[in-house]
Amino acid sequence: MTKENLSIFHFAIIFILILEIRIQLSEESEVLVDRSKTGLTHVPKDLSLETTILDLSQNSISELQTSDILSLSKLRVFIISHNRIQYLDVSVFKFNQELEYLDLSHNKLEKISCHPMLNLKHLDLSFNAFDALPICQEFGSMFQLEFLGLSATQLQKSSVLPIAHLHIGKVLLVLGDSYGEREDPESLQDLNTQSLHIVYPPGKEFHFMLDVSVSTAVNLELSNIRCVLDANGCHHFQNVLLKLQKNSKLSNLTLNNIETTWNSFITTLQFVWHTSIEYFSISSVKLQGQLDFRDFDYSDTSLKALSLHQVVSEVFSFPQSYIYKIFSNMNIQYLTVSATHMVHMVCPSQISPFLYLDFSNNALTDMVFKNCANLANLNTLSLQMNQLKELVNVIHMTKEMQSLQQLDVSQNTLRYDENEGSCTWTGSLLSLNLSSNILTDSVFRCLPPRIKVLDLHNNRIRSIPKDVAHLEALQELNVASNSLAHLPGCGSFSSLSILTIDYNSISNPSADFFQSCQKIRSLKAGNNPFQCTCELRDFIQSLGQVSSDVVESWPDSYECEYPESYKGTLLKDFRVSELSCNTALLIVTIGVTGLALALTMTGLCVYFDLPWYLRMLCQWTQTRRRARNVPLEELQRTLQFHAFISYSGHDSAWVKNELLPNVEKEGIKICLHERNFVPGKSIMENIINCIEKSYKSIFVLSPNFVQSEWCHYELYFAHHNLFHEGSDNLILILLDSIPQYSIPSSYHKLKALMAQRTYLEWPKEKSKHGLFWANLRASINIKLMEKAEEISYTQI
Ligand SMILES: *[C@@H]1O[C@H](CO)[C@@H](O)[C@H](O)[C@H]1NC(C)=O
Ligand SMILES: *[C@@H]1O[C@H](CO)[C@@H](O)[C@H](O)[C@H]1NC(C)=O
Repeated sequence: MTKENLSIFHFAIIFILILEIRIQLSEESEVLVDRSKTGLTHVPKDLSLETTILDLSQNSISELQTSDILSLSKLRVFIISHNRIQYLDVSVFKFNQELEYLDLSHNKLEKISCHPMLNLKHLDLSFNAFDALPICQEFGSMFQLEFLGLSATQLQKSSVLPIAHLHIGKVLLVLGDSYGEREDPESLQDLNTQSLHIVYPPGKEFHFMLDVSVSTAVNLELSNIRCVLDANGCHHFQNVLLKLQKNSKLSNLTLNNIETTWNSFITTLQFVWHTSIEYFSISSVKLQGQLDFRDFDYSDTSLKALSLHQVVSEVFSFPQSYIYKIFSNMNIQYLTVSATHMVHMVCPSQISPFLYLDFSNNALTDMVFKNCANLANLNTLSLQMNQLKELVNVIHMTKEMQSLQQLDVSQNTLRYDENEGSCTWTGSLLSLNLSSNILTDSVFRCLPPRIKVLDLHNNRIRSIPKDVAHLEALQELNVASNSLAHLPGCGSFSSLSILTIDYNSISNPSADFFQSCQKIRSLKAGNNPFQCTCELRDFIQSLGQVSSDVVESWPDSYECEYPESYKGTLLKDFRVSELSCNTALLIVTIGVTGLALALTMTGLCVYFDLPWYLRMLCQWTQTRRRARNVPLEELQRTLQFHAFISYSGHDSAWVKNELLPNVEKEGIKICLHERNFVPGKSIMENIINCIEKSYKSIFVLSPNFVQSEWCHYELYFAHHNLFHEGSDNLILILLDSIPQYSIPSSYHKLKALMAQRTYLEWPKEKSKHGLFWANLRASINIKLMEKAEEISYTQI
């Protein structure tokens, strides 16, 4: 490790230590106990005294007593919503001085008795069974209060007074089912809150007169507005809205869960157009009834943004194009119409101020905004989750949008056919979301030239073509969840800094990725079927060389898929030896080992003369086998000697001093023609006599013998055919090596025998002599009949 690396290493360790200490500290300061949904009927007694956050929501607790929570002196957050508490004495919390957050919503509270709770920031008493507003005098001292949730069936101006002087961030007021019988419209006048959310009783026709225009409110949210019976629109509701005009501070209005008619819906829009409201959002709308044509008055508005989410129209024949026209000509900057089943939208009739259009989750087709030049200011367009089919049509649709920088056409069924139409995107486009479509490799031939952010995840891309136009501005590319088999280099994307390519089919990512992609800050390549073989080592190594926060989800998402034996192993833990990977090294190692082995074998052979031993053993076993096959008795009857020995006079010393003592000592009888000489017969006759009475004939071969003696026997052998093919009466002992050339060419038999190596070689080393003699004895040893022996001796 270099000095530099070392200091970076130290720095990293210190950093990790600091991080750990910080985590410990923050863990120490928060002790969360979650006993929600556990069927509790009482506050459990076994709670840690250190508890700071206690969640007992969604149980069946019906009572709360001082003793239950007395000891939890550090309790800061207490959630006991969705239980069955009917009565609460706030003084049960008098020992929980730290309590800041108390959620008692969705109980059955009818009554509370109060106690000052100075530190409380969040108090939720909404969705309970209170009749009157549960605001006691003591609430007046809760100066920290940021959120107050209330519920009531009757409102009285006087009940708000105790908190009139507070500046509450948000008040949620849930009106009970029987609200509205005796209403005081002015009840909320003294409420001092920035945000007010009123939940009307659900399912009830709106005939409320409560004035919701609290003078301090900037945000107003109204839930559960149902007015379907009033043929003239929503008279009561419109009166409520009318009063909002008094409050010039109001900037955000949200309506949730509305059931009304098309006419009163448009009237509501029209009404809001002329208030101080800047952000108007409506969600969960059910519309019915007819729509009368009226001109929409766009003048004199503060509105910047309108959002419609989840609109269901229960009528099927209504003038759609009229509605599209109302929306497309709105003089606002931000328009969202999502989850509405809208099938079309028309081009604004003049240059539109729209900067942002979100038409996601509808039923729009490729025909939307065809040849539309009036969206010249549009910066962001989302057509996510519609029914777009041809990329070429999308290009055509956006061609005239000169300011368009962000386009989201994800989650459609877009495809791109290279042969259809031109591919000229609007030059302004910087971010394009084409994810979750059915695009293939060809899409790379049709991308906006200045694009910086490109999302192509979840398509059908198999490879990124090499010859694509250079996208030099591209910084962020997401091609996750495709079928890519290779990790692309940055040849065509010289600015790429974020690449997301997880969930593909990459098994062998190339190791030079980081070399090619110098600007990469984030690579997410996990969940690919990595093939853990030698090639992958280089890639893993290259991952190790970049900063750890560059590789996202490392190491957990990077697992071996193949081979089977490594399946599930994290890449981080994958090890394979240098030897099995480096072919050159492997070859060298095998070569060296083989060479060493060969040398050892040669050495052994030279040292121990292994081939000699092998031959000896082989001959021994052959002798044994043959001995078993010979019909012994017949032989035994005629034989007097175990062997006849013939040798050259030059070798007689060896025969007398070595051979005879060693062979005869075991009772083996040898016929020597000079020793067992029968007088009156020629030498040759004596020799032949000897041969015929012996079980075997031994010839001691040496150059001398070959030169001087062999000729005698050649003739004899030829004549008697005694030594015919396969006969094993003959034993040749090679006393000295005989060079082939020294054998006269007429000695065919000898040559053949030498060539077959059917001789016993006299070993020069003394250590081998024992085996030699044993072998020789074994080959001539046979049990001779004593009688025959005697006879022969008498003959002698
Ligand atoms: C009003 O709503 C918009 C959009 O949701 C939000 O950005 C803005 O902060 C809200 N204004 C206030 C005063 O809360
Ligand atoms: C593209 O749209 C998908 C949803 O369809 C979203 O999850 C993704 O974050 C978007 N990509 C970008 C770069 O905004």
